[in-house]
Amino acid sequence: MPIDAYKSIPSLAPALSLAGLEPFAKGGHRHCYVHPENPGLCVKVPARADDGRCRALQRRELEDYATLRDRRPAVLLERIPVIEGVVDTDLGVGIVSELCRDADGRISRNLAALISEQGLSPSLAAAIDGLKRWLKTQRLVTRDTGPHNAVAMRLGEDEWKLVIVEGWVHRRYQWLARCHRVLAERMIDRQLAKFDRRVSKLVGVRPGGS
Ligand SMILES: Nc1ncnc2c1ncn2[C@@H]1O[C@H](COP(=O)(O)OP(=O)(O)O)[C@@H](O)[C@H]1O
Ligand SMILES: [Mg+2]
Repeated sequence: MPIDAYKSIPSLAPALSLAGLEPFAKGGHRHCYVHPENPGLCVKVPARADDGRCRALQRRELEDYATLRDRRPAVLLERIPVIEGVVDTDLGVGIVSELCRDADGRISRNLAALISEQGLSPSLAAAIDGLKRWLKTQRLVTRDTGPHNAVAMRLGEDEWKLVIVEGWVHRRYQWLARCHRVLAERMIDRQLAKFDRRVSKLVGVRPGGS
């Protein structure tokens, strides 16, 4: 039975005005703002209000979250930002979630941006291994968990934690995780190999390539 995401995630009032503010991050389909009333929260809105794909991704994100909350609550505890609810904004419906920040308060950057900026340090490589181990342990078949959708929270000088900000549920394959352990493991291995290839590509295009 499909989940009605907008009914199953609470609506937060009142409406927010974001149009005059600068987003702290822009993806291909959504823009992210610091919540004007709470620096601990992120408000994610469609990048283009008239673009159906942007709106569909918003809905999809809520559906994914509701699916995990109902069927895999343990998965939500560690590496997925908590969704507080949805809110009307002057840029369309916003998803309000926990804003990932580093230990020093800076907004965490995604892994792709971080690698482009400073390369792949041993501590970042260890954090990627940690994410991969977690995905395997949870048997979470995601979609498009590329480096741009993993946010790297800097917990200490050499300590990072990777959190996934979108694409948590691969609908076509999610049943695998429950029914066919070996097939699910293979699927996850393939996804993780793709993740590694995307990381290598980013490392390769950096000046000096390290
Ligand atoms: N909860 C969050 N905390 C910190 N940064 C986030 C959060 N959610 C998203 N971001 C940042 O915003 C960017 C765009 O968000 P994303 O959900 O990937 O949108 P899109 O669907 O457009 O790719 C991400 O790459 C990440 O850098
Ligand atoms: Mg993205």
